[in-house]
Amino acid sequence: MIRKIILSFIGLSVIAAVGLGFYISSLTRTEQARLLLSWTMSDGEALFQSSAETYATPPALLGWLDARQKQSLNGQWSIIVDPMGVGTPGSIFGGYPLDRQNISGMSLVEYDFATAQKITVPGDVNSQDPRLFFYRDKFWLQRDFAAKTTPGRRTLLHFGAANFTATVFLNGQAIGRHEGGYVPFHFDVTDALKNGNNRLLVWVDNRLTDASIPTGRTDWWPYGGLTRDVHLVDVPEAHIVNAKLALAADSDQLINIEITGQNIAAGEQAIVQIDELSVETKLQFNKQGIARGQIKAAPQLWSPENPKLYAISVRAGGSWLREPIGFRRIETRGQEILLNGKAVKLKGISTHEEPIGEAGVAHSEAHMRALLQEAKALGVNFIRAAHYPYNRHLPRLADEMGLMLWEEIPVYWQIDWQTDATLAIARDQMARLVQRDWNRASVIIWSVANETPNTAERLKFLRNLIDLTRKLDDTRLVSAALLGGSRPDFALIAARLAARGVASENVSELAKERFQAVLDQAGYFAPSASDDYQMTITDPLGKYTDIIAYNQYFGWYYSALLARQMGVDEAVLRPLMLDFMADLRIASSYDKPIHISEFGAGAKFGRRSADNHIWSEEYQLAVYQAQLDMLSKSPQVQGLSPWILKDFRAMLWPLAGIQDYYNRKGLIDENGNRKPAFYLLRDFYNNDMKLPD
Ligand code: GCU
Repeated sequence: MIRKIILSFIGLSVIAAVGLGFYISSLTRTEQARLLLSWTMSDGEALFQSSAETYATPPALLGWLDARQKQSLNGQWSIIVDPMGVGTPGSIFGGYPLDRQNISGMSLVEYDFATAQKITVPGDVNSQDPRLFFYRDKFWLQRDFAAKTTPGRRTLLHFGAANFTATVFLNGQAIGRHEGGYVPFHFDVTDALKNGNNRLLVWVDNRLTDASIPTGRTDWWPYGGLTRDVHLVDVPEAHIVNAKLALAADSDQLINIEITGQNIAAGEQAIVQIDELSVETKLQFNKQGIARGQIKAAPQLWSPENPKLYAISVRAGGSWLREPIGFRRIETRGQEILLNGKAVKLKGISTHEEPIGEAGVAHSEAHMRALLQEAKALGVNFIRAAHYPYNRHLPRLADEMGLMLWEEIPVYWQIDWQTDATLAIARDQMARLVQRDWNRASVIIWSVANETPNTAERLKFLRNLIDLTRKLDDTRLVSAALLGGSRPDFALIAARLAARGVASENVSELAKERFQAVLDQAGYFAPSASDDYQMTITDPLGKYTDIIAYNQYFGWYYSALLARQMGVDEAVLRPLMLDFMADLRIASSYDKPIHISEFGAGAKFGRRSADNHIWSEEYQLAVYQAQLDMLSKSPQVQGLSPWILKDFRAMLWPLAGIQDYYNRKGLIDENGNRKPAFYLLRDFYNNDMKLPD
């Protein structure tokens, strides 16, 4: 009997095994893998999937950072690069935050931060390891630090920025997540802090998508990592979160003050002092933790010529904060920009946040001082800090050095105008930028976008940002760099170029035929060879901004595009364009100041050409000559910030031997070597924005 049972069991097992074999072979490879994994793991544990955890978002920005008691967490951090998400919380062995150790020598732990590669924080990871040059994915940064908890005090973990999503774990506990690089954020970690050694782990992801801000396509390097200072900030239980001081709208002898407190009871007092002016005022907190008031004072007004700063002291709760703050008034009147009631021209330059002579992001005071000193050598009084919020040293140094600033969030080119989460990131970036820098006299313009398409969705999105910006700070100007020039504009310009081409001796018969064909299309309206042209900017966004900012590339991109359209060689079109620019004017349908936020041309430092060939220093100089001549004859133009101070890293430009993944429109190269156009612009600015004879 038993024999029968055994035999039938074996028979059944064989049938089952064969059946199962057939079943598995019928599955796809993915189904087979999933089946295998489902056998080896309990539900929810996945080797590579990311956990569906949600994380806390950071509280409102903590202001006055440099006035606070803090411990730096800068230095050597461990890095583990993890593009496949093995360390994800909830993955098969629990993920890196569990931080399992191989205690017995027999535990299967396949990572160890103690022995992992080290990188320097602050700093981007891309420039610290050649294997990470193009890296755009997830990685883990870790360090230990000693701390002690003190009753009645709170400990805030503060990041100057993290590009572009950062999820923070302390002693294995999920603290929170911030999405959207370039701006400061913090978490209150008091309850997760241990007396003694603490283990800090930050899961960073520098991927960008069509729904992020910026998107994955940018003409600058998407440096990833903890790119700015990291601090532990010590605050009293009842403390000042932020405070804003600014001249009242209708008087230079009155300063408006608004202080936001945490755990400060209604009725409690705040004291604000300006010792140098022997003035002080007391304010009362309301139930919302806000204290508002005014201080009568007659400060010397800040300006580039006289960058006067006052030591401002603000006391409330257990906080006593001091910062140097300047007071000035910036406004527009018709087509003029007024600084302290006087018309001012913005003699500027555009920048990216990269150091001179070093790879990677600029993050230190020394980096920023060197950049600003080079800009000052150019004779500027204004800097367009494109295209994203910079580290906090920029506005503080600009305050001291007397440089006016344009600060900007990276709503750049085509983004996802329809997704709420995308708008939320842009709003968070703008709010944090404004709340960090609203006491910096140097900041005169907030910019909500750069070169965005003229659509209804874009207008709605940007108006939302403009409204938010003005609600947070109505003491500064708001703008956005526009792509100007309509199709009719370029058609009319093309006709003028054709008329010059037909009349020129230096143009081949074939090119003349092409130009004549363009004129024939213009028919009765064909222009003469001496016709000038006025381009009028009518972008609907201009209705909502204070300044009409316009990026234009006459002499660079437009020559290539128009040559292609007209079927002529750029060698013919480029000289015609440079000649035509003397008769081109730029205006706007809005009775507002125009600021030329970009123009430029690429040149490889040291590349010379007697024939003004493209990429030569001579050609860049020729474009600057034509641009400065053209713009000095456009009366509505009140300022310039040519593109750009320094050659900068960009993935768009691979041209070996010339670009090598640099954008070469700098007036200096990546090592600080000045190109001839640097001196022309300097002379133009030092000659009151007129070209030297
Ligand atoms: C655009 C854009 C810049 C870019 C520049 C260029 O105007 O705003 O970010 O670098 O052109 O192409 O060099």
